[in-house]
Amino acid sequence: MFRYTNNRDIHQSVQCGLGCTIWAFSVLCADVVLEANVVIGSHCFVGKGCHLGEGTRLQSFVFLPPHTQIGAYCFLGPGVICTDDPYPTVKQPDVPLYTPNPPTIEHHASIGAGVIILPGIHIGAYALVGAGAVVTHDVPAGAKVCGNPARRMAGQQRTRDANL
Ligand SMILES: CC(C)(COP(=O)(O)OP(=O)(O)OC[C@H]1O[C@@H](n2cnc3c(N)ncnc32)[C@H](O)[C@@H]1OP(=O)(O)O)[C@@H](O)C(=O)NCCC(=O)NCCS
Repeated sequence: MFRYTNNRDIHQSVQCGLGCTIWAFSVLCADVVLEANVVIGSHCFVGKGCHLGEGTRLQSFVFLPPHTQIGAYCFLGPGVICTDDPYPTVKQPDVPLYTPNPPTIEHHASIGAGVIILPGIHIGAYALVGAGAVVTHDVPAGAKVCGNPARRMAGQQRTRDANL
């Protein structure tokens, strides 16, 4: 059982838990799993096989490449872009297909508006990534990072909802 609005494109294999909401103009590809109470804002792209944990929220214009794994109660601000290919090219006969390497975001992590997360990056539980950051290295659990490239901020731990 889930709520949705018109003009979205949800593949028939998508699994939605109780209480999910999917806003208009979002695309959810095959084999996506949304646990209970996930919210997908408008104009999001959720690639094949992504898994979003309970209560996680994507604000508008989030891009998740195939097989991105996001834990429970994560917040991804508007325009967050996750990437999975370090040297992107278009498909060509003489160029080998890339091996997708999406990021992983652990439970209760918060990602600020407009953040770009590079391929294969691991964001730890309760981490906080400041708006506009480009995340080029793994972020430890509970760490607070910002900037391009993202660096740890003074104070180290996030200041709200900190349970570590
Ligand atoms: C990172 C963040 C949590 C602030 O953490 P904070 O510990 O309260 O930091 P402060 O506001 O005290 O700022 C500390 C320093 O970091 C800088 N800073 C703060 N946020 C920054 C960011 N996103 N990128 C770069 N620098 C940042 C400040 O300018 C300040 O620098 P200064 O001391 O030279 O003036 C916050 O700025 C942020 O980006 N939150 C996410 C907002 C968001 O995207 N929400 C999405 C839903 S709308």
